[in-house]
Amino acid sequence: MSGRQRPVIAIDGPAGAGKSTLAAHLARRFGFLNLETGAMYRALALKAIERDLGFDEEPELLQLAGHTRIRLEPQAEGNRVLLDEVDVSRRVREADVTAAASRVSVHPQLRAWMVDQQRVLGQLGGVVMEGRDIGTVVFPDAEVKIFLDAAPEVRGNRRFKQASPSQPVTEEAIVRELRERDERDRNRAESPLRPAADAVILDSTGLTLAEVLARAEEIVQGHIDRVR
Ligand code: DC
Repeated sequence: MSGRQRPVIAIDGPAGAGKSTLAAHLARRFGFLNLETGAMYRALALKAIERDLGFDEEPELLQLAGHTRIRLEPQAEGNRVLLDEVDVSRRVREADVTAAASRVSVHPQLRAWMVDQQRVLGQLGGVVMEGRDIGTVVFPDAEVKIFLDAAPEVRGNRRFKQASPSQPVTEEAIVRELRERDERDRNRAESPLRPAADAVILDSTGLTLAEVLARAEEIVQGHIDRVR
């Protein structure tokens, strides 16, 4: 037993599976806070870019982290991200930061620093926490664990449709970038992306968004009914 009054809902899965949309929906539906842990890796990666640090230099990155404050402010549509009190919500979604975050997030001690903060953020429960290692490492005792997956082509196609027309990017390039990130996330030595043994695996490849949301709602509602 976790001792929490309210549950932690862990949403893990590869890039582009729709985790953010699902997490925001569940948070709204059940009145929970929505915390996007990927934004924390992105924020630190942005600071490393600004300081011209190498992404493979763990000691320097760790030192940088020690002087960094990252805050997530849950909003109706996703998180506002504050890096040392500056709003970087839009900047952290750009392609250079996306690629850097994937490289920064391989370092074990840096992950430990992130995980400590994420545990504090979620300790009271009443949160939907989204990432790669929430159900396996951050909250192995999470009351609900959903691993949201989809075929790379489907994830790439969804991302392509969401891309703004001003971005000159092809669907093939998006799928290639997703595969590269998947490869790094799934094969890193520390906390590789994988479903927790007790996670419900939700493969959205052949499902509509409405079907995915409905299925996840059922899973969370099922937990709430069981503990009531
Ligand atoms: O979910 P996202 O695309 O915003 O995540 C950005 C990067 O951070 C991604 O390459 C994987 C990494 N990440 C992680 O390793 N662990 C998490 N809990 C969340 C994100």
